[in-house]
This record gives sequence, structure tokens and C-alpha cells, in this order.
Amino acid sequence: MTVTIVVGGFFGDEGKGKVISHLARADDPDIVVRGGAGPNAGHTIRSGNDTYKVRMLPCGFLNKSTRLLVGPGVVINPKVLYSEIAEFGVGGRAFIDKNCGIIEQSHIDMDSKGDLKEKIGSTGSGTGPANADRAMRVLKLACHINELEDVTIDVPAEIDRTVRAGGDVLVEGTQGTFLSLWHGTYPYVTSKDVTASGICADVGIGPTIVDDVIMVVKAFVTRVGTGPLNNELSHEDTVRRGWNEKGTVTGRDRRAAAFDYELGRRAVMLNGANQLALTKLDMLFPECSKMTSYDNLSLEAKSFVKKMEDELGIPVTIVGTGPEDTSVIDRRS
Ligand code: IMP
Ligand code: MG
Repeated sequence: MTVTIVVGGFFGDEGKGKVISHLARADDPDIVVRGGAGPNAGHTIRSGNDTYKVRMLPCGFLNKSTRLLVGPGVVINPKVLYSEIAEFGVGGRAFIDKNCGIIEQSHIDMDSKGDLKEKIGSTGSGTGPANADRAMRVLKLACHINELEDVTIDVPAEIDRTVRAGGDVLVEGTQGTFLSLWHGTYPYVTSKDVTASGICADVGIGPTIVDDVIMVVKAFVTRVGTGPLNNELSHEDTVRRGWNEKGTVTGRDRRAAAFDYELGRRAVMLNGANQLALTKLDMLFPECSKMTSYDNLSLEAKSFVKKMEDELGIPVTIVGTGPEDTSVIDRRS
């Protein structure tokens, strides 16, 4: 029985989707359960010729025997939920918790204008206003909506049953440590705590049952929307290095900077992380593209990985070497 949490180490978009997709196929967990804020998070998975953009369901659906759950801490846009269930063909194995909050059009409208849009650079998904309504105790929950009945279950009880029966559970965090409402660069943050402890609460598990916290970091740091980014590169520099990316949900340009070890150490602390997944190594070391064996990495790439382990104090157990979910080095024993 193992319970593993995957969280983002910086500002989201570290490559969690790819890492989770890999873990789901490598470990065949009984459940992948999503925590985090809501459909403001976009994960991208590339598998073969297909690209999947996921905002509501957990990644890991490519492993056909895994059940896909969404914890009660996550606010749901039913339209996005249903379109993903249909698009990914996962009807019958995808469920949300009865206590998930529901995003309505009014939340989306409120999120798409004023300070939330202009000052904070919100994704416009309605996630923040819905969480505000939840704090005000006026938000509708999934259990209040008849049409959601067939996809609604008791997620914490389902996880508990699985864990007691000796099954494996993979817990998917969204966003990143420094977008946390408690620990991030407030006010330029999302509307929830998104560190490992917050994700545990989102899905209804307690800290004593967690075996591993895998923190995902990219070989460089990106941030979409407003808020501080140390040593931010100019757009021209970002493009020159090939580090220019676009947001999955909003299509906005992501801002970029070189890897920040100090911030990384703080993220390890805040999450109690005991393993690192380092993605996009091939962007710094193109000769490592698509490699699946650590031994074959160039000396420079190996010393970058080693430096990461020395600076952050925990092992790099997973390395991403390309956008496809098979371009992974898995060093877990
Ligand atoms: P909100 O969560 O939509 O309110 O947006 C607040 C801030 O968090 C904005 O800067 C967003 O760009 C950022 N943000 C929220 N979710 C994500 C994510 O999944 N990846 C990257 N940035 C995010
Ligand atoms: Mg993303």
C-alpha cells in the first residue's frame, strides 16, 4: 500500500501532468485523486501523437484501470467536467466528491474583470470567486445538484477503503507552492493552499498515511500572470533560450527565469518533500532528449542533477527528457 502526493515546487506548470501520467502507467495505482483549486489549473499530457489538455479530471487517465477522483476541496465547472469525461472516454471511472463546490456563470463573470483579472492576472475560470462564496457558506455543492448524481461519490471514504485493502493511491496536486494562499507571493496567488498538506485536506486524507511527497520542478522557473519572479529574463532572452511557453488554460506567454535553488529549498521545506521530479532537462541539455536511462546522460546533465540534489537535499528520482510521457528516467528503487 502506498500513498504518494505529487505537488508543484514553484508557480505551477512544472510538468506535473506528465509526471503523473508516467506514475499512473508505471505503478498502476487503484486511484488517482485530484486536489488543488479548480479548473484554473491546466495540465498537458503528450502521448504518442496525442496531446491532452486537462483542467478538471486527474491526469493518469491513460492508465485504463485507474479510477479518477476529484476531492471535496476542488471547485468544479460541470461543463468542463462533462466535456473531459466524454473527450477522454472515462465515463464510469471518473467521480467527484459530493462536497465539491460548483462554479456558476456569475463566478466566471466576476473572475474575468476588475482587480482579479488586471492586478492578480487570474485565469478567469471562476475558481477564486467560487472559493470566496464557499468561505461565505453560500456556494452550491455537488450534492445539491441532481444532474451530477451519477458522477458524485464520497471520495475520502473511497480512498480509505482502497488504502485499507492495501491499494495504491496517487494524489495529484495542482498549481505550485508559491501560488499558495498561505505560503505564496500574496496577493499574487491562487485562492487556496496548494502545498502538500493543503492537497491532503482537499482529498480527505491525514498526514500519517502519506508515504512519499514528490515535488515537481522544471529545469528553469516559469510564471504566468502577475507577481514577483526573481531574475526574470526578458522575453527576447526567454525565446533565445527556447524557454518560451504558453499557459494551458489562458494561452498567455509564461515569464521565465533560471532555476532558483533558494526558492526550491523553501518549497521542499513547505511540502515535506522527500523526492524531486525534475522536468525539461532536455531544454538545458538537448543531447539528453528522449533518454530513458540515467547512465546515458551527458556529464554536464548529470552534474546539473547532482547539484540539484545537493542544493535541495533530496534525491531526484524522476527526470523528464522530452514532452512525451515516455521520455522519462525513473530512478525510484
Ligand atoms: P486564479 O487561481 O485563477 O485566481 O489566478 C491567480 C494566479 O494564479 C494567476 O497569476 C494565475 O496565472 C495563477 N495560476 C492559477 N492556477 C495556475 C496554474 O495551474 N498554473 C499556473 N498559474 C496558475
Ligand atoms: Mg499548468
